[in-house]
Amino acid sequence: MVSACEVKTIINPGATKAELLEALRWQGEELEALYRAADECRRRHVGEEVYIRGILEYSNICAHNCAYCGIRAGNRKVRRYLMTEEEMVECAEKIARGPATTIVLQAGESQTLPDQALGRVIQAIKARTPLAVTVSAGVRSESVYRFWRQCGMDRYLIRFETSDPELYRRVHPDSTLEERLEAIAALKRAGVQTGSGFLIGLPGETIETVACNLLLARDLDLDMIGVGPFIPHPDTPLAGARNAWADDLSMFYRVLAILRLLCPFAHIPATTAFDAVFPNQGRDLALQRGANVFMTNHTPDRYRRDYLLYPGKPCADESDDACNACIRARLARLGRPVGKGPGHSLLHPPAAPEPKKEPRP
Ligand code: 5AD
Repeated sequence: MVSACEVKTIINPGATKAELLEALRWQGEELEALYRAADECRRRHVGEEVYIRGILEYSNICAHNCAYCGIRAGNRKVRRYLMTEEEMVECAEKIARGPATTIVLQAGESQTLPDQALGRVIQAIKARTPLAVTVSAGVRSESVYRFWRQCGMDRYLIRFETSDPELYRRVHPDSTLEERLEAIAALKRAGVQTGSGFLIGLPGETIETVACNLLLARDLDLDMIGVGPFIPHPDTPLAGARNAWADDLSMFYRVLAILRLLCPFAHIPATTAFDAVFPNQGRDLALQRGANVFMTNHTPDRYRRDYLLYPGKPCADESDDACNACIRARLARLGRPVGKGPGHSLLHPPAAPEPKKEPRP
């Protein structure tokens, strides 16, 4: 039997694959000890505050065909949309009046919105609000990342999804793991705070895959790491598949807790997919087992139901005011304060001041 104290000696930033494989099998009291150790590690290294990042899903147009994703190009049932630049900036101003201190501009992976246009949006948001700006729009060239950085982009999110190149190829017919990892390297070279992460339970993954995913997330030295359960979507090729851990749902929290102990200073969100698996409490439990970030949805009501990456995505029928009220109530219940300030990386804080020269694509 492993105590909370022993958990920390087994799972720390130097943990080996063998140690991770051991921890990924913990159950019962050992699992409870793991959760306590992760919560304690989170408190000590990133504190009690929970940073709120407001997501704006500005387009669901996508050129890719990821086998798990509800907005994949091949899903003809999706009504496609692209918000206008004005709509995006207006939404950002609204977000800035609530508890979120970061806006996450997320979209399907396509060039439908020209890079210059997104640059203008980033500049306008930075000029009119105090929000930090995160973009999540897939693989782009290093020069585009640098251009957006000059426009004021602070951070970028791009999950590697799985560390197994063969499994990656099977679920991503039009990209490679290598390209994805190169995008992460390019973002780092461009001085952008970088977030990545992976899906838990892709069909065919093994406990070895999960251990390697954790090690890759650690070795990439990421500022933010988002992980969440794979949830089969009915209008995708994986409609009939089961989550690899469907018979052991604790795996999702085991991974999250181990991730915190491996990467004590990373920002780790309580991702929405946790609420889809454990309705109304999934994200609260995540915040008590290692997570320190919460993402609220601010996509206008008229588009929200068209951005279903997986079924049961929470808040699909809520307004963004309702999301703000919900997170305040959740944090109050957990006794955790709302994060003040931008909630930048604790590992690679941004160099101030930001470049003044006129950005060029
Ligand atoms: N289940 C869970 N997560 C999903 N994502 C996409 N589709 C699904 C799904 N069916 C995740 C991917 C992507 C992020 C934006 O959403 O990991 O990187």
